Amino acid sequence: MADEFVPQWIIEKKRDGGALAEGEIREWIARYADGRLPDYQMAALAMAVYWRGMSADETLWLTDAMMRSGDTLSWSGLGRATADKHSTGGIGDKLSIPLAPLVAACGVAVPMISGRGLGITGGTLDKLESIPGYDTHLDNARFRAVVDRVGCSIIGQTDRLAPADRKLYALRDVTGTVPSIPLITASILSKKLAEGADVLVFDVKCGAGAFMKTPARARALADSLLAVARGAGRKAEALVTPMDQPVGRTAGNALEIAESVEILRGGGPADARSLVLDLAVPMLVLGGAAPDAPAARALLESKLASGAALETFSRMVEAQGGDPRVADAPEKVLPQAPAVLDVPAPRAGTLSRVDADGIGRAVLLLGGGRRAVTDAIDFSVGVSRLRKVGETVASGEPLVRLHARSRAEAEALVPQVLAAFSFA
Ligand code: URA
Repeated sequence: MADEFVPQWIIEKKRDGGALAEGEIREWIARYADGRLPDYQMAALAMAVYWRGMSADETLWLTDAMMRSGDTLSWSGLGRATADKHSTGGIGDKLSIPLAPLVAACGVAVPMISGRGLGITGGTLDKLESIPGYDTHLDNARFRAVVDRVGCSIIGQTDRLAPADRKLYALRDVTGTVPSIPLITASILSKKLAEGADVLVFDVKCGAGAFMKTPARARALADSLLAVARGAGRKAEALVTPMDQPVGRTAGNALEIAESVEILRGGGPADARSLVLDLAVPMLVLGGAAPDAPAARALLESKLASGAALETFSRMVEAQGGDPRVADAPEKVLPQAPAVLDVPAPRAGTLSRVDADGIGRAVLLLGGGRRAVTDAIDFSVGVSRLRKVGETVASGEPLVRLHARSRAEAEALVPQVLAAFSFA
């Protein structure tokens, strides 16, 4: 039979605002994944989708096709519900690190596949790798064994998980087609659905330091993620949360691990702690571990207070080869930067802005992020003791502490760091 698949006719259809058929999308992704369809035609279609969008059905078919380009995991037989959360990323967003063990301690398993830092946003994997010995490269069998034994595991994406997304993401990155809601939805969910959790909770960040700059765009992405996740048979919830100032009082890999330990001890900065609880509540309710939100919150608080959440974190770290003493004395285990510099407030007043973007750039320049994909990260550097919007400071009081490779590097960044703060 003649091959009736003509790529340019599909590109033309989308370019002119048409809706693609399920078979066209599935065939397209199958051919792209195995190399029969070249990057230039994929790039043209991605640009057509960028301008013309996709219906909920088209987005669901695209996601499903991309998910099926690689391994799919199943957790049946685990004997517990499974849940995961996805954040669209931001500065100081360490929430997955306390969240996974906390939810696991409440009886819902968390098999979490996370990413590395992208641009100025830190990545959960980089943060965890600041714990000496922690291995983020588990194969499927070991991943399953850790989730079974501990209740949670946080690892990196393997080459076999949604390979079509890996290829398409790299192409979108260099063809101006990243900020398309259907393409973002398919990218995120092809990986999350392949991971196999029953429940998905999305933290869609909104603001100056986020991918989605406006509430309308953030809500549109949240709606699209929910429609596709539910369409694929998962229970799902989404929160739109602010990303104008960094989350918590630290940004930088090891510093964020130390702050995560504080949260797991029942303390930590109020905003980070409350976001962890807000995200954990739907994971427990949809996962069947609590009948409603107040009961879920009470259960979460009890696992923080009893030390069970911290204990689960320590067991996860140990099961993945890391030094579990990080849970008791993070400062003894985590790398420490050689130079520390407090940046004094130039005047007294109440802070009206602490720019996430500016702080994220400073962390990258200190060596805590990458300029090229092959760059090594310095886990020890970053910022701590960050003052937050609404707080009042005296003149000369520290606004933030810089952790740097040398005093000179820290001093050189002071003007840039100060520019991130505005006073009311
Ligand atoms: N994260 C992803 O995994 N994919 C996108 O397209 C955007 C953010």
